[in-house]
Amino acid sequence: MDKKVTVVGAGNVGATAAQRLAEKELCDVVLIDIIEGVPQGKALDLAEAAPIEKHDARLTGSNGYETSEGSDIVIITAGIPRKPGMSRDDLISTNAGIVKDVTLKVSEFSPNAVLIVVSNPLDAMCHVTYEASGFPKNRVMGMAGVLDSARFRTFISMELDVSVENTTAFVLGGHGDTMVPLPRYSTVAGIPITELMSKERIDALVERTANGGAEIVGLLKTGSAFYAPASAAVEMAESILKDKKKILPCAAYLEGEYGINDLFMGVPVKLGTNGIEEIIEISLTEEEKAAFEKSADAVRELKTVLKKLA
Ligand SMILES: NC(=O)c1ccc[n+]([C@@H]2O[C@H](COP(=O)([O-])OP(=O)(O)OC[C@H]3O[C@@H](n4cnc5c(N)ncnc54)[C@H](O)[C@@H]3O)[C@@H](O)[C@H]2O)c1
Repeated sequence: MDKKVTVVGAGNVGATAAQRLAEKELCDVVLIDIIEGVPQGKALDLAEAAPIEKHDARLTGSNGYETSEGSDIVIITAGIPRKPGMSRDDLISTNAGIVKDVTLKVSEFSPNAVLIVVSNPLDAMCHVTYEASGFPKNRVMGMAGVLDSARFRTFISMELDVSVENTTAFVLGGHGDTMVPLPRYSTVAGIPITELMSKERIDALVERTANGGAEIVGLLKTGSAFYAPASAAVEMAESILKDKKKILPCAAYLEGEYGINDLFMGVPVKLGTNGIEEIIEISLTEEEKAAFEKSADAVRELKTVLKKLA
């Protein structure tokens, strides 16, 4: 393949992302983890599936970063996931150290890469990566909105018994309980869901979306969601690798957009070869603005925690 993507963290999200990248034949994949043997074993296992899955993506596993040299994209999934009863924010002290260390290494070997952060708490970890890499803001982003929107779309399709392919959904804000699903901008075959469902049902789906991660953690008990998160990160990577210029909700560094400064927040962006090529500003109602502000406050609070940890 002429493109190369490194996935750091060969756990549930990382290994699944590696699988999807390879099976879509988007790029060669380097899988890196701190645990000896795990990235090598998973990469070899995935490579041995290639003749059956019919792809020629090369998969390499490693504990060092030399093999990641010259990557077009690095997806950072290293860190610990939530356990039942934990919020994403409870992970901050452990994951901030891991994400900083990983970022320093990947940016040394791939100075021109686009960095997609997945580790939680997402918006705070984007700050860690942005600062540690020193990369321009268009090349550092976080995955959350694509996942949250996919969850909302799933619930809309279940509710109305329609194809998921007919659904679109928009979820903005930080990746936490204060995320802001936008029913007005969520549609079925172009029809806003506000025309198709009662306010009570929409509110119920919005609440299920905001708690979507916790619902899976509660069921799994030993980890958090990974199939849909991996799909979401790979959709972002695909848009960048193929310069598709898809508009996707991603955590982006805001400098005045939506009235927010110096904060990573989930907003619609255009993703192409240069990473975030444009931040799209949509108009929000007073109520939506207030919800977005509340979400920004939650992200700001985490930034303060980060400063104390530093
Ligand atoms: N943004 C989102 O929407 C979203 C969704 C799902 C999961 N997550 C987050 O992604 C992260 C990974 O989740 P998971 O389910 O794959 O967890 P996991 O425990 O299955 O995998 C994490 C991997 O990171 C590795 N790791 C730890 N420290 C490392 C280091 N210094 N260098 C390299 N690798 C290291 C671990 O060995 C492990 O294999 C968690 O923080 C989780 O909360 C985010």
